[in-house]
Parts: sequence; structure tokens; C-alpha cells
Amino acid sequence: MEENDLFTDTKPLEIKSHIDNLTRNLIKYCDYYHNKNESLISDEEYDQLFRELEELETHYPQYRWNNSPTNIVGATPISKLAQRQHTIPMLSLNNIFSNLAIDDRLIRHKELFQFNRRIYEKLGNAPEYIATPKYDGVAVNLTYTNGILDSALTRGDGFIGEDVTLNIKTVRNIPKILKLTNPPKLLEVRGEVLIKTADFLNFNITQKELGIKIYANPRNFTSGSIRQLDSSITASRPLHFFAYSIARVSESAKLNTFLQQLMYLKDAEFDIGENWVAICKDTDELIAYYETTFSNLNKMPFGIDGVVYKVNRIEDQVQLGFVSRAPKFAIAHKFPAKECESQILSIQVQVGRTGAITPIAKIIPILVGGVMISSISLHNQAEILRKDIRINDFVLVRRAGEVIPEIVKVLLEKRPTNTVQFTMPTHCPVCNSGLIRELDETIIRCSGGLFCTAQKKQSITHFTSRLAMNIDGLGEKLVAQLIDNKLINHVADIYKLNLEQLEELPRFGKKRASNLINAINNSKKTTLSRLIYALGIRHVGESTAKDLAAAFGSLDKMSTANITELMQVNDVGIIVAESIISFFAEYHNQEVIKELMHLGITYHISKSNNNYNKFISGYTFVVTGSLTNYTRDDIKAKIEELGGKVANSISKKTNYILVGINAGTKLDTAHKLGIPIISENDFENFLVEENS
Ligand code: IVH
Repeated sequence: MEENDLFTDTKPLEIKSHIDNLTRNLIKYCDYYHNKNESLISDEEYDQLFRELEELETHYPQYRWNNSPTNIVGATPISKLAQRQHTIPMLSLNNIFSNLAIDDRLIRHKELFQFNRRIYEKLGNAPEYIATPKYDGVAVNLTYTNGILDSALTRGDGFIGEDVTLNIKTVRNIPKILKLTNPPKLLEVRGEVLIKTADFLNFNITQKELGIKIYANPRNFTSGSIRQLDSSITASRPLHFFAYSIARVSESAKLNTFLQQLMYLKDAEFDIGENWVAICKDTDELIAYYETTFSNLNKMPFGIDGVVYKVNRIEDQVQLGFVSRAPKFAIAHKFPAKECESQILSIQVQVGRTGAITPIAKIIPILVGGVMISSISLHNQAEILRKDIRINDFVLVRRAGEVIPEIVKVLLEKRPTNTVQFTMPTHCPVCNSGLIRELDETIIRCSGGLFCTAQKKQSITHFTSRLAMNIDGLGEKLVAQLIDNKLINHVADIYKLNLEQLEELPRFGKKRASNLINAINNSKKTTLSRLIYALGIRHVGESTAKDLAAAFGSLDKMSTANITELMQVNDVGIIVAESIISFFAEYHNQEVIKELMHLGITYHISKSNNNYNKFISGYTFVVTGSLTNYTRDDIKAKIEELGGKVANSISKKTNYILVGINAGTKLDTAHKLGIPIISENDFENFLVEENS
């Protein structure tokens, strides 16, 4: 039907057509999300558009579609399941967020402080809260009559849900009969059905092997599983239920707090996720709960997308009441999204240590999983073509493996008209040498070698790095500064630097200059494997360097070895062997090595990693509290033997704090500064893992 014809009033047609577009799009997104298991846009953007539509609809109700997504909460009901009304509506929770990129606590958790303040003002006192995870599953309401489970409804639109009783009865950890000696006449339990992460991964592996549909995420899986028309299918799915509240109970006299409700549910043999339930006395404790849960997210056996705080006393809850669709006594404190949308501003190329040219997308900075991202590696031209990434495109950004940012996909439906395709340059953007592509390589390289300043800077930085010569204080910025000031041109020049030269540099005092000279001198005594690794021979990483050191015992022997001899070394194949040979064949590499030796570099061969541990070497530890297996002197000796340092107080340079029993205030400081905290057990694992 052509809806425009129906409107003769004076409201601007643009508003109507905007509402129409929004509604149409949101319906499409919902359909893809729930029925095709595909996200066309990020959750954040969906929420934003949803809110925009909601607002427009309140102002212009005449333009609201009957089947507007704002009318439906969550999934669009599958019509074949019977629908029933909730005796008590299943409301939603309001969300708050934290901006983890901000250091100032008060600003970082501003929304939490505001939430607490509103409650404080209304109650006149600071209440106690109960914190629980916000389960990322599917909400259901279970009704027990005289202790027997007789109905289960999904949330539906909050007022009318779908009857999933038969399916829910197949979920193994949901009590079918309450294990209470005196069950109430009526009990309505609310909670979340989900699948544990490991079960989900296993399920998908099997499905894949069988060549059947795999699910996009655990929530789609759960939603699909409990809304099956054939409950034997649900029965075959490893679902799990966590109970999070009591909506109604006929005899409730003794349940005065939310915690008592949870304990009652626990007695009735519900899983209340007790390990993750915490009593929080104030905002400090809420923040600690939030931050600890967030940092342990990867260890959670099931998906959560935040935490929920509820005022503990039921009387207080009643006094606080509700605002529209959400209670005022509870809040969902959401975790930062791991997938966010942004736009590509430009694509630049970066020259790596070995000349590899990598295209980098500069994007409008966004927070992804709590970290600010502004540039993303696009790897190579083939990747750009495969994903059809263009400048000005809107893209979905994710942190792969929680760390490295990547572009998930281009949001094609939002592609602007002004996109520009990217082509790789033909010459190095730094030194203008020609770019070459080696056989069998997707990577393009600058042919300039150490003539290229970019390669030079990075090879020297590699040489000084922690696992190589380990020159503390001589990082990327300073290396660039020294090269730009013509104080160094290759790695051997580092050992010719003197105090006077350094003191003249900007931001260099006597102290910093002499610290650096000391660090340079200390690095002269090293191990053969560090030296080999430091040279930056292509394909020779840290572990190959160790194998080469053990096999040849001297740099001389290694540099004159032929291809067959090299290939006898563990993990050295033809490519690595050829790379070593061509490195030593370069005249200027030979010269630099000679010069290094001449300047007093000496090395010994480390016996089976004795004085090296990749978790410890080059790191600074602060120890607090008493340890079980080490005295203070023992642990200091052990860390130092393995190439680490022990400091007495926490500073910017502290890499780990090793915590024993009765730890002091250092632990709090470490928490505040976000310094990794390890136990004696973790430390022991460092020793074991290194050797395995
Ligand atoms: S309490 C009055 N606690 O989040 C609403 N909800 O966004 C009380 N959810 O509908 C809800 N974990 O589906 C509560 N520990 C938890 C929860 C939780 C997940 C879901 C639930 C709710 C939605 C609100």
C-alpha cells in the first residue's frame, strides 16, 4: 500500500519517510539477526537506531508501523508456538557503560556514580547491592505450582511470551520438581537459558563435520534451540539455566532481601551462578566487581555481556519502583563492545624491518573492548580486495583474539558514494626505492634495504629490544631521534655513543644520559642466541636463534656454515638457510659484525636457557607478601638468574607484581595502575612453560 496517500495532515513528509526507512531497516536487521543468524550492523548501532525510532514514534505516533520493532522486545515471535500472557510483565534493565580509556575513575565510571546517587537521594541512605553476571542468553519465566514445573514462557514482547514449556522441560539442570520440603503453592522463577562456550564450540564442530548449519553465536543457538517445535531436538542440545530472580512466590515472608531470594532458589536446586554472586557495600566494591569480572571474561565458562547490580533489600526495591519499562533498583553495567562500527579515513602504507609494505587503515577512533583503536593493519592488497575495503567505507571492527584489531567486514549497505579504491604504491613511501614482490609471497617489499630509513630505524630498534640486546631505554622513538640527528647509522654506532652527545639531545639530562650509557655497556656482555636474534636475519626468530647458537657455538662458525650444515639445525629449512647465507654474504653485514666485536661485544653460550626465560627475562618484578617456596632473597636471585629484575617499589617500569600471603598496600597500588598481578603459582608456571 502506498502509505503517503493516507496522510493529509501537515507533518513534513521527510519525517514520515525517515520513520519508514528506519522501521524497514530495523525490521530487516532483526530478521537477519534472529532468523538468518547474521548481524548486518553492530549491536550499538542497532540500539542507537532503535532509540531514534522510539523517540520519533512518541512524537509522531501517526507514523508508527503496527509491526514496528519497538513494539516487540527481543526476537520476533515464531507464530507456531502458542503465545501467553505473563502474569507479571518481564521488563528490561537500563544500561550503563564505562569508558575504560579514561584514567580518572570518577569520569571512567561516571554513569555508575550517577546511578548510585539517584538511589541514595531517593532512599536517603547508601544501600547494599548484589552483583551478578549479566548472562548473555535467552530469558525465560518458569512457573511452579505446588512445586511442579508447569509452564515456561519466553520473554516475547515483555507482556506476551511464547510457550516453551515442553522444550524447557528437557533442559537438564532445571528442576522439574522443586527440592523443597515445603514447596510454595506458586513460584515464578526468572532466569536465563544459555549454552556454555565449550559446549557451543563442540556443537558447531560436530555440525560442521556433518555438513549441517552452524550457529553464529551461543545466543542464536540457545534461542533457536528453545523455540523448536519438536522438543526432542531441544533435548539433544546441551543447554544450561541460571536463575536470577523470583518474580512471584506465594509465601514470601522470610525473603526480605534479594540475596535471600537467591539462596531460596539455590535450596530449590537452581543454579544461581553462586561463584559469581557478590555483595557490594559501595561503588568501590561495584567497580572492583566490574573490573575483575571484565578482566576475567575469557575465563568465564559462558557468555556474559556485563554485570547486573540490584539493591539488596526488597523494601528498598519497592520504594525505588520503576521507570517505564525498567526498574530503578537495578542496572545492567555493560562491558565495552568487542565489535564496533567506524569509518575508514585513509589507507597508508607502513614499511617494516625487513622492508615489508603493509597497508594500514586509519579509522575514526573508537573504543573496541575497552581499547581505543585508530589504525588497523589490512595485511596486503589481496586482503583488501577480498574484503572489498575502500577509503570512506563504514566498517565493523573487532579485536581478534581480544588483542589485534581487524576489520570484520565492510558495511556495504552503508557504502557512501565517495569511496575511493586503494592501490599499492610502486615505490617505497620512505626512501622511494622500487617495491618488489618475491615469488610465492603476497607481501611486497621495499628494495632499499638498510638504505631505507624506515628499515634502518626498525632494524636498530629490533637490535636493542628486550629479547635481543636488551638495552633498556633505547626504544623506537629514541632510535629515530639518534638516526635523525646523525648520531647513529647502524647498530655498531650505538656502542660509540658518549655522554656528551646524549646530554645535548632534547629532554636528556645527565641522569638519563648516564643511565643509557650504562644500559648500553651492560648489553655488551650477552649470549650468542641473543646476538644472533639481534642481527635481524629474516626468518630467524628467537627460538631459531637459540637452536643456531647451540648448534654452532660461535658466530664465526655459523657465518661460514654451508646450506647443508645449516639445514641440520632444528627447524631450519631451505628458506631459513638461504636467508642466513645471503645475510652473511652481504659485505656491510660482515663489517658491522666485525665492528661490534671490535667494540667489545662478548657472548657466551647459554646452557639450556638457564639464564633466560621469556616470561621473566627483561621484566621488572615487585614482590609483596610472603611466598611459600622462596625467601625474599631466593626469589630475587631466581628472577635475576633468569634475566629479570626485582624492584622494591612500584613504578611505571614495573611489569609484574608477584603477590604472596598477607600482601600489603602494593597490591592496591598495582590494582589501581593496572599492573598484572601474578601469584607464586603463576610464577612457577612461567618456569614450567618456558621449558615445555
Ligand atoms: S534482572 C526487571 N539479572 O537482561 C528486570 N536480568 O536487559 C530484572 N539478564 O530481561 C532482570 N542476566 O533477560 C537480571 N543477572 C541478571 C540477568 C538479567 C541477564 C537479562 C534478562 C533481562 C535483560 C535486561
